[in-house]
This record gives sequence, C-alpha cells and structure tokens, in this order.
Amino acid sequence: MHLNGTAKINSLDHLEIGGVDTIELAKEFGTPLYIYDVGLIRERARGFKNTFEKMGIKAQVAYASKAFSSVAVFQLMNEEGLSLDVVSGGELFTAMKAGFPAERIHFHGNNKSEEELRMALEHKVGCIVVDNFHELQLLETVCRDMDQSIDVLIRVTPGIEAHTHDYILTGQEDSKFGFGLENGQAEEALLRAIKSSHINVLGLHCHIGSQIFETTGFVLAASKIIGKLSEWKVQHDYTAEVLNLGGGFGIRYTGEDDPIPASRYVEEIISEVQKKAEEFNLGMPEIWIEPGRSLVGDAGTTLYSVGSSKEVPNIRKYLAVDGGMSDNIRPALYEAKYEAILANKAGQPIQETVSIAGKCCESGDMLIWDLPLPESAQGDLLAVFCTGAYGYSMANNYNRIPRPPVVFVENGHAKLVVRRESFEDLVKLDLSLID
Ligand code: LLP
Repeated sequence: MHLNGTAKINSLDHLEIGGVDTIELAKEFGTPLYIYDVGLIRERARGFKNTFEKMGIKAQVAYASKAFSSVAVFQLMNEEGLSLDVVSGGELFTAMKAGFPAERIHFHGNNKSEEELRMALEHKVGCIVVDNFHELQLLETVCRDMDQSIDVLIRVTPGIEAHTHDYILTGQEDSKFGFGLENGQAEEALLRAIKSSHINVLGLHCHIGSQIFETTGFVLAASKIIGKLSEWKVQHDYTAEVLNLGGGFGIRYTGEDDPIPASRYVEEIISEVQKKAEEFNLGMPEIWIEPGRSLVGDAGTTLYSVGSSKEVPNIRKYLAVDGGMSDNIRPALYEAKYEAILANKAGQPIQETVSIAGKCCESGDMLIWDLPLPESAQGDLLAVFCTGAYGYSMANNYNRIPRPPVVFVENGHAKLVVRRESFEDLVKLDLSLID
C-alpha cells in the first residue's frame, strides 16, 4: 500500500494523517470528509521554490487555484510565499477574502468579462494573462477608462499538446486558449499590446496540458517560445522579462502512474531556457510556473462511510459509500483511477475485491472498480487517496447532496476550514412560488 506524506497506520490499525487518527476525524466532522495533509502541501511548495533558489533563477511559483480554491488554502500558499493563478472573479474574490497579496495574483481565463477585468484592476492584481484579441481590446478600453496601466503576459499556444505520456505537435494550434505562436497571432498580439500606453507586456505564457509525466513537452515548448522571442528581439526590439510555462506536472494516483520529482521538471526547464537564451544571445527571463495538482493532489484524502452493499452472483460485489460523483466527479468524467483502503482496518489483510459505488442516481457514479480490501461491513470508513486536486473544486450538488467539509491536519491538530453544506444552504438561493 502506498501512503503519501504524513499518512501512516497507527497501533490501532487506523489510518492516521498529520498525526491525527482519521477515525476520530470522522467522529468529529462526519463523512464524507476531505482531509488535507498540510505538511505535504508545504513540502511540495518548498520543493518547487527551493529548486529555483538552488539554481539561482528568479521565479514565481503560482498555485493554480482551480485545483482547490478556499480561503484557507490561499492563506497557506501565501504563508509558503507562493503566487496565485486565478481564472474567475470568484477565485479572485476568494483570494481577496483570504488577504492574499494582489501583486502576486495572475489573472487567467479565455473569456474574462469586463466586470472581471475591472475587478482585477481595482484590486491591482500583479498581472493579467491575455488570452485573445477581444480581451486585449477590452482591457485597453477598461484601462483607459480607469486611467490605470497593467502588466500582462500573452498566452501562446506553442503547438505542443501533451497527452500524459506523449506529445502531439499540432500544426494549426487548435485550442480555445491563447494566441497561436506559429500562425502569427501571438506576434500580432504583441505588436498591438506594445503600442498601448496602458499595457506592459512582461512576457509570454503557455500551458501544454495536465497530469504530464515527462519533461519533454515543457522543454519543447520552452525551446519554441525562446526561438520566437529571439526573432522578436531582432524584428521588434522586444525582450521578455518573464516566461511562464504553466502547470501540469503529474502525480501518482495509482501504481500505474510513475511521476518524476518536481525538481526534475524545474531543473530541465531551467536548463533548456538557459541554453536557448545563450544560443540566441537573450537575457535569462524570470521563469514562472503554475502547478495545481502537484501541490495539493496527493495531500488530499476523502473519507467516506460504507453503507449498503450488493452482491451480483458470480460477477461482483458493490459497496456503496455516502458520497460519490458529487464530491469527486473525476472517475465519471475522465475515468480517473484511485486507490483506497479501509481507514478503520488499515493494517488488516486483503480478503475481498469490491467495486465502490457512489450514492448518486446515475450508473456512472462509480468511484473505484475492483478494489482489494479487508472484509468490509456497513459502518467501515473508506479512505480514497489523492483527491486533493479537482475534488472539492469540482464538487457539485447533484441529487441535492450537500458538499462535504474540508479539514486541515498538521502536527496532531485538525482544523475545519470549510464547513459542511447544510440542507438550508442547499435552498438558500431558491425562491418560493408562494408568497
Ligand atoms: N495553468 C493553466 C493555465 C491551466 O489551465 C491549468 C489547468 C494549470 C495551470 C494547472 O494544471 P495542474 O498543475 O493542476 O495539472 N479538471 C481536470 C484538470 C483540468 C486542468 C485545467 N487547467 C482534472 O481533474 O484532471
């Protein structure tokens, strides 16, 4: 069994995380429950930052907050000195509530509204990642109207798409995000932006995909971008101060995944940029990255209570838990795979193979197929690992199931950071037909 971070099995055969017995957590906070190992998040954050520091490279590590947005996690990232990538007014609002320093916030999105751009300018975010010509025009208008200027990165599609293990070099850069690097759109965006007296183009941004296990794609992207920057230096006397290579660093969900350490991605990206910058006689830009999953993914565990079970003779045994696609839509949406154990029988020998069903009215609501477990019974606690990224942030109220609470554990202490949704919460936006 693979345990992450501070997770271990204690003398009671219980799963313990952050020095706290998860059975006690279930008693105190109920199930389903998202548990975050704060020590592991800190370790991951420091891993990225230290590599840049060791190599003497000016950098920003921006937490891609879409992976898990909440006031507490933003405060934690701030404690660790990270920057923040937000993609909506809602994420920006949450960051402001958390007291996150606006100058370290980068605002993304392929369809930012005028209100969102105004909000970003009002709060004086560090930079806006401009995604398309419409936005460039809108931003210019809003800046003029507010008599403000803003640093931007131009998001480019370098024509590399990463599919976990392999890379597709797409000729026509068919993506809803960003300006094509090869088709001249990125250059056109740069030329329009540098004409503006309100917009300062700090540099370029790209994001090639998610859950990537190799450095090849990042290195290829960096190399193509630097090549283009060298042309722009000659043709337009433009020098980028910042190169943002996005996120997407893969993590281990199951034994099928074999990620490399974060430091390897960073080292290889830096080496490539250094090599190319030297080759083209360009100054070394600051390197920014935007990890989401690799900061919080394996630090999260979801704890469920086992309820009903159903045996289909000669086929399989279904074990149903008190959550499902409402708190983790990834198996239904992406056929994502997870590992799990019985938290209250963690040290006990494997005795059966079961399939874990959620409680939603949908056959596709299966969390794990063919999971080996000790003999299970109603009331057992199932701990599903690696649910820290895109679990809570993609949670929903299908079947009007309230979203679970989030608890942070560290050094033997548990702190509730998102409370459980109540039935009252579920109807708080509803308006009655009857006066
Ligand atoms: N930067 C940009 C511009 C992005 O679009 C993303 C993810 C990230 C950074 C962070 O990527 P990460 O390091 O977390 O892989 N819901 C999907 C993942 C969608 C990712 C979207 N963009 C999932 O559950 O796997």
